[in-house]
Amino acid sequence: MVKTTPNDSFPTPTSHTQAETEEVLLKHLPLTEDVKPSLQRDNHLRFLARHLTQGFPARYISQDASQPWLVYWTLQSFSIMQVGMDPGNKRRAVDRVLACQHPDGGFGGGPGHEPHLLPTYAAVCSLAIAGNPGENGGWDQIDRKKMYEFFMSLKQPDGSFTVSKLGEVDVRGIYCLLAVATLLNLLTPELIAGTASFIASCQTYEGGFACASFPFFSSIPESPESLLLSPRPNLGEAHGGYTFCAVASWVLLQPFNRLQSRFSKINTRTLLRWLVQMQGADVELGGFRGRTNKLVDGCYAWWVGGCFALLEGLDGVGEVPGLHDVHDEKPGEGDEWLDDVGSDPWNTKALQEYILYAGQHPAGGLRDKPPKNADSYHTLYCLAGLSAAQHKITPQIGHKNALEALWQSNSKTSLTLEFAREAEGKNVLDDDLRKEVYSTALSWGEDSSTKREVVGGKENRLNATHPLFNLTATHADAIMAYFYGQPTPP
Ligand code: FPP
Ligand code: ZN
Repeated sequence: MVKTTPNDSFPTPTSHTQAETEEVLLKHLPLTEDVKPSLQRDNHLRFLARHLTQGFPARYISQDASQPWLVYWTLQSFSIMQVGMDPGNKRRAVDRVLACQHPDGGFGGGPGHEPHLLPTYAAVCSLAIAGNPGENGGWDQIDRKKMYEFFMSLKQPDGSFTVSKLGEVDVRGIYCLLAVATLLNLLTPELIAGTASFIASCQTYEGGFACASFPFFSSIPESPESLLLSPRPNLGEAHGGYTFCAVASWVLLQPFNRLQSRFSKINTRTLLRWLVQMQGADVELGGFRGRTNKLVDGCYAWWVGGCFALLEGLDGVGEVPGLHDVHDEKPGEGDEWLDDVGSDPWNTKALQEYILYAGQHPAGGLRDKPPKNADSYHTLYCLAGLSAAQHKITPQIGHKNALEALWQSNSKTSLTLEFAREAEGKNVLDDDLRKEVYSTALSWGEDSSTKREVVGGKENRLNATHPLFNLTATHADAIMAYFYGQPTPP
């Protein structure tokens, strides 16, 4: 008998939808333990290919301002399922995305739309997958100079960025900007000044992160400096989507953060406690919810599962404890939960079961939960979460050393002279720091000492995806190798 989630017997709309969801999910539990769930790869590929060849059906009309996203969700789903694309489809994807580039820099949600940080990330990742540096391959058509100016135009005094001109501040936008700036070699000291501490200020009293900083003031703060000296608790709502963006941003900024006199820290212990609470119980098949008292949903396999992956990457490195390091720290008052969680706080097997049993739509594509329809967004993030639960991807010191050695040998080229010339100006990373950004980002690889069970057998195994970018290593490596041979700022 599978237990349902306990409640306080006070009926609310939330408790009703929770009970309904559990009832539906119960029907998806396997009847016997020896059932082997299979990933319906061909169905999912057909679902995605239909969109490529026939276009998106009318119900996607609300996604008109998300055109680069539709391309990215489709291309990256193919990559995770280990399927390459023919040159004609690649070309069409590149053209479609380039049509969204704005003359003032960055990409909009469609041709002629205002530039915005979110479609800019989707566009650049799509180009990383489908493009190349050849003629009409898309990479040389990215206007890096204008992109950098666009990024700088969004910068706020507290280190944050608005998502667009006159738009709101949101950690999703900050993540998109940092991921793109890392991939395209656009990071400069002035671009990222104050950003790590802004990100840290988005962590809430629950442990997860909110979309922005919502400090609690019992009185009007005396000065901006006083705020820096005594940060206030963030009273925003922690959410899996924002938490992924904040943690990935914070990790992307580590090569710089380490050098700051005021090192900005996140609290991995409260973060871990919150992440663990987002994983559903048996009746919810181990899927993740995005926030307290809400329902499990396949896309959080990536947004929340991805946070576990990022925290695993912090194990044994740097000043902030990683996923397993927290156990080595002396427990404080109220830390009894750490004993219950044990050394394996993320149930990767259960997460795979949620995706395989409940996330797959019988007609192809993946979804939030049954009986919902599949869509491109959930298809990608269910697959990415499934992949993260199958592979342990962490920074590999051997990779890092090899990348640094390669960098050293390439430095003998005339590019070094260019870097040196640039360095005479003030706003550039010195070559060592640039090397550190490059080799740190690309050092993530399979941890061969940990074998994770692939639920359903090896036929279900997917390609690994990079926890910082959600691109395969092949695509992240190629685009970074190309752009780290170019000057910054452009
Ligand atoms: C709530 O939706 C959703 C949000 C508050 C935003 C979620 C943010 C992400 C998924 C991250 C996106 C990341 C990038 C890089 C663009 P809801 O109320 O429908 O869902 P819920 O009930 O599960 O919270
Ligand atoms: Zn969802």
